[in-house]
Amino acid sequence: MNYKTILITGGAGFVGSNLALKLKKQYPDVKIISLDNLMRRGSELNLSRLKNAGVEFIHGDIRNKEDLLNLKDKIELIIECSAEPSVLAGTEGSPEYVINTNLIGTYNCLELARKDRADVVFMSTSRIYPVDGIAKLNFIEEETRFSIAPEQSVPGAAPKGFSEEFPLGKNRSFYGMTKLCSEFLINEYAAAYGIKAVINRCSVITGPWQMGKIDQGVAVLWVARHIWANKHLSYIGYGGSGKQVRDFIHIDDIFDVIKTEMEDMEKHNGEIYNIGGGLENSLSLLEMTKICQEITGHKLEIGSIAQDRPNDVKSYITDFSKFEKSTGWKPKKNVKETLTDVHQWIMENKEQLESILN
Ligand SMILES: NC(=O)c1ccc[n+]([C@@H]2O[C@H](COP(=O)([O-])OP(=O)(O)OC[C@H]3O[C@@H](n4cnc5c(N)ncnc54)[C@H](O)[C@@H]3O)[C@@H](O)[C@H]2O)c1
Repeated sequence: MNYKTILITGGAGFVGSNLALKLKKQYPDVKIISLDNLMRRGSELNLSRLKNAGVEFIHGDIRNKEDLLNLKDKIELIIECSAEPSVLAGTEGSPEYVINTNLIGTYNCLELARKDRADVVFMSTSRIYPVDGIAKLNFIEEETRFSIAPEQSVPGAAPKGFSEEFPLGKNRSFYGMTKLCSEFLINEYAAAYGIKAVINRCSVITGPWQMGKIDQGVAVLWVARHIWANKHLSYIGYGGSGKQVRDFIHIDDIFDVIKTEMEDMEKHNGEIYNIGGGLENSLSLLEMTKICQEITGHKLEIGSIAQDRPNDVKSYITDFSKFEKSTGWKPKKNVKETLTDVHQWIMENKEQLESILN
C-alpha cells in the first residue's frame, strides 16, 4: 500500500469511522485523519473510538473549502464518506444542505486532490439509478417480495440485479442527483488534472455503529425497534405490503472492497463499480421482520401505510459482477450474520445507544 497519509471525510460517520479504525489496525504506520462536522446524531459516539485507535480527528465541514485546503498534512488519498445520505433530504423544505454537502463538498474535496495530487475513493450510491426508470420495469409480485422479472426492455436490469449499464433516466432524489453530479465532476477532474479516482455505487451498507433512523439505516432501525419493542414500525408504500426489496452489505465487506482498490489504484483508476450484497443477501421488509423476530425473540405489531414514500423503489439489488470479475471479491457475510452482528452490538452498548436508536 503506497499511501502514507489518508483523509477520510465523514470520518466519524458509520462508514467513515469503521474504515478509519480498520485501516489504522491494518496499516498502523499510516496517518489516518477523520474529518467530520458531526451533523449526524450519534457520530459523536465514535470520537473516543477513533482517539483510542490513534486516528486523528478534525472537526471540519466539507462545505468550507478552507477546512480542506488548510490541512497541515499533505494528503495522498481521500476517501469521501461524508454526506447527507437520506433519499428524503430536500423533499420537505430546502435542498440546500444536501446540495452543499454532497455536491459542493465533493468539489472542495477535488480541489484538495488537485492541490495535493491525492487519489480519490468516492462513496457513491445505487440511488444514482433513476426512480422513474426503475418504476417502469417489470416486477413479479411473489408471496413475500417483489422480484425483478427476467423480461425487460432496457439493459442492466435482471432478476440478479442492476448492473452499471442501467440507463440514467430522469429523477433520483436530491441525494442521488448530488452523487451522480459528483461522479461527473470526478470524471472532469480526472480528464483535466489527471486525478486518479474510483467510484463505488453502493447499495444498503449496514453493521455495527450505524446510527439507524427512519430515513436512513433501515436494517439497524428494524433490529433496534425489535430489541426495545416499545415503538411502532410500519410497512410504508406499495399498498403497505412490506414487499419492497433491497440488498444489504456488511461494513466489513465494504472495507475489503476499499482495501482492494487502494492496493491497486492503477488498475481501478477511472472505474465505476456497483457494490452490494447481491441477490443472495437481499430481503424484503417482510423477510427482514422474520429474521429480526428470530434474532431478538420479540414480535412487533407492524402497521401498514398504503401510500408510497417519495423516491422509494420496489426493488434494488446489486449486480456486482463487474467488480467480482476484476478482483475475485465477493461479500463474505450473509445478511442474517450481518443482522446478528447489529443485534450483538446494540445489546453490548444498549445504554449508550438508547437515546439515539430508540
Ligand atoms: N450507509 C449506506 O447504506 C450507504 C449506501 C450507499 C452509499 N453510502 C455513502 O457512504 C458514505 C457514508 O455514509 P454513512 O452511512 O456512513 O452515513 P453517515 O451519516 O453515518 O456518515 C456521514 C458522516 O458525514 C458527516 N457529515 C455530514 N455533512 C458533513 C459536512 N458538511 N462536512 C463534514 N462532515 C459531514 C456526518 O456527520 C456523518 O458523520 C456517504 O457518502 C453515503 O452517501 C452509504
